[in-house]
Amino acid sequence: MFYIYEIYYICILLGVLFVSQKDKYSRLNKIIKLYKRQPDQLIRILYQAQGIFGYLSPEIQAYLADKLDIPLADINGVVSFYSLFVSEPKGKYNISVCQGTACYVKGALEVLQAFKDELDLHDTDTTPDGLFTLCSSRCVGACGLAPVVSVNDDVYGQVKPEDVINILARYRAKELGAIDKESRRLA
Ligand code: FES
Repeated sequence: MFYIYEIYYICILLGVLFVSQKDKYSRLNKIIKLYKRQPDQLIRILYQAQGIFGYLSPEIQAYLADKLDIPLADINGVVSFYSLFVSEPKGKYNISVCQGTACYVKGALEVLQAFKDELDLHDTDTTPDGLFTLCSSRCVGACGLAPVVSVNDDVYGQVKPEDVINILARYRAKELGAIDKESRRLA
């Protein structure tokens, strides 16, 4: 009996995922239709596609190449050239460690390494649970606060490697709070 319920819920989940994916492609098709005939609109289309899907996977790039009648290599070239575009899903919390000169001089590399160690990120940028993505950035214009770290819209200044645990704990606690709230809502 338990298995029947499990299968039932998995089917519902797959159905929801399928519908939401279908909905995303239909939104993308509208954008393609709107801009396809206008020259030099590739970046705009890619930007909006990324807004819909969250990232530009090889499948989405191939889809766009087909619909726009542009070689896949051209699309891939634009996606790889602009740091604005990402081809892999990002974590819920995007941690960016500034590596501009002022931050670098004040130890940003050690801060970056502390995040890597704490998140156990050595070959990838995103944690397996999809919670954190780590990257380095150029100067963000807050050199007086060097070294600077941002997590989504939160900015941290004068960060030391030993601060990393506390910064991460804040977002982990947020997640636990969200899970707790949800389980109470369902109880
Ligand atoms: S160098 Fe990091 S904020 Fe300017």
